Amino acid sequence: MDMAKGLNVKPAQGKLGILIPGLGAVSTTLIAGVFDIRAGHGLPIGSVTQMGRIRLGKRTEGRNPLIKDFVPLADMKDIVFGAWDVHGENAYEVCKRSGVLQDKDLDQIRAELEAIKPMDAVFDHDYCHNIEVKHAKTAATKYDLALAVMEDIKNFKAANNCDRIFFQGWATTEIYTPMSDVHQSLAAFEKGLKDNDPRISPSMIYAYAALKLGYPYANGAPNLTVDTPALVELARQNKVAIMGKDFKTGQTLMKTIVAPGLRARCLGLNGWFSTNILGNRDGEVLDDPGSFKTKEVSKLSVIEHILDGKTFPELYGKYHHKVRIEYYPPRGDAKEGWDNIDIFGWLGYPMQIKINFLCRDSILAAPVALDIALSIDLAQRAGFYGIQEWLSFFFKSPQVREGLYPEHDLFIQKTKYKNTLRYIMGEELITHLGLDYYAEEDK
Ligand SMILES: NC(=O)c1ccc[n+]([C@@H]2O[C@H](COP(=O)([O-])OP(=O)(O)OC[C@H]3O[C@@H](n4cnc5c(N)ncnc54)[C@H](O)[C@@H]3O)[C@@H](O)[C@H]2O)c1
Repeated sequence: MDMAKGLNVKPAQGKLGILIPGLGAVSTTLIAGVFDIRAGHGLPIGSVTQMGRIRLGKRTEGRNPLIKDFVPLADMKDIVFGAWDVHGENAYEVCKRSGVLQDKDLDQIRAELEAIKPMDAVFDHDYCHNIEVKHAKTAATKYDLALAVMEDIKNFKAANNCDRIFFQGWATTEIYTPMSDVHQSLAAFEKGLKDNDPRISPSMIYAYAALKLGYPYANGAPNLTVDTPALVELARQNKVAIMGKDFKTGQTLMKTIVAPGLRARCLGLNGWFSTNILGNRDGEVLDDPGSFKTKEVSKLSVIEHILDGKTFPELYGKYHHKVRIEYYPPRGDAKEGWDNIDIFGWLGYPMQIKINFLCRDSILAAPVALDIALSIDLAQRAGFYGIQEWLSFFFKSPQVREGLYPEHDLFIQKTKYKNTLRYIMGEELITHLGLDYYAEEDK
């Protein structure tokens, strides 16, 4: 590649349709936020693409543009939203029920929100217990369900005059699905769809439909979904960008901020106990042990890779890591997380760190969802396809090629993200070596 020119990125012309299985608390907070921001009623705080800056060239050059001014991202005014859900409520009704945003942020965009009515979902009670289903598709096979979703996508695209489509999975966490032979190849997966194989979940059916039509897919929930060899194969075959899974917000964000710091200073760990109270519908579903198991696996993996006992046996060889989520309705979306971290220092002397994070789940998740949508759309236009590891920055359990370990350290992830943007635009990658500034003094 000629670094002077960068990649040949197709322009972000026309409308970008963001299609979302799961019109719930997070997705409606994203949608309402985008409507508010483009109407001039708020700022996209927490969004790296909208408010983050990127240094270009040497520190002495003073070039530090906003990311959105540096790379050709879709403009927020060009986004249209569509969704599937089982409840049949429009986006305004979901916002009111979820209680995340206040009337002051909803009143002026009420009509726009009311216009977003979910399409009938692909649903399977075996994958999700605590949900009342009013609007679900019926078909003879899972393959027919996938075809019905493809039909929905085509209709949505035509009705909204979209130039591009991106899929973002925000439906309820599914029961834990271990990887099995039906997920191992595209041929096995397609046969499984036609045979109604019970190991194929609804989220995989949505993802299959999107990838089959050539549209990128990012998975905000912790389910397997695109993180299977079969769907990776389909993504590569159709040259589509994918990434998963489980957006990095709340407690896990804190973990990937603190853990790299402990490791950087070679401080040891005896134990890390994390507990949360959460009263939204996500919390209610996670009360079911099957769904909790899916979330637990995603949350536990985070520090195991950063504080790696194989590489650092004396520091991280035998710590105890436990994660709990308790459903506690009075709190709604305002989650409270506690972390007790038992560390040790010089000569093994013990110390403790306590973190009490009173956060708002959907307020943290919405900007991440926006950044992923805009970044993966950019990736697709830049000609990237398959797993987008450079977007690990936004994921709790980043998807990687077989044989690689995921990079969880937020600061390495950030460097990877920004260097990929520089690479796309033909700017010099930044190594932070910095010796050249001092070599210049000797000249
Ligand atoms: N809130 C966060 O910070 C956060 C962070 C990372 C991941 N997540 C994940 O995002 C997902 C959504 O979270 P939420 O707080 O918006 O939950 P929510 O319960 O408010 O919304 C989920 C929606 O999905 C719908 N749904 C369930 N099965 C469906 C199906 N098969 N097809 C279409 N719709 C379906 C439900 O009816 C519900 O409206 C969860 O999996 C959660 O674990 C949330």
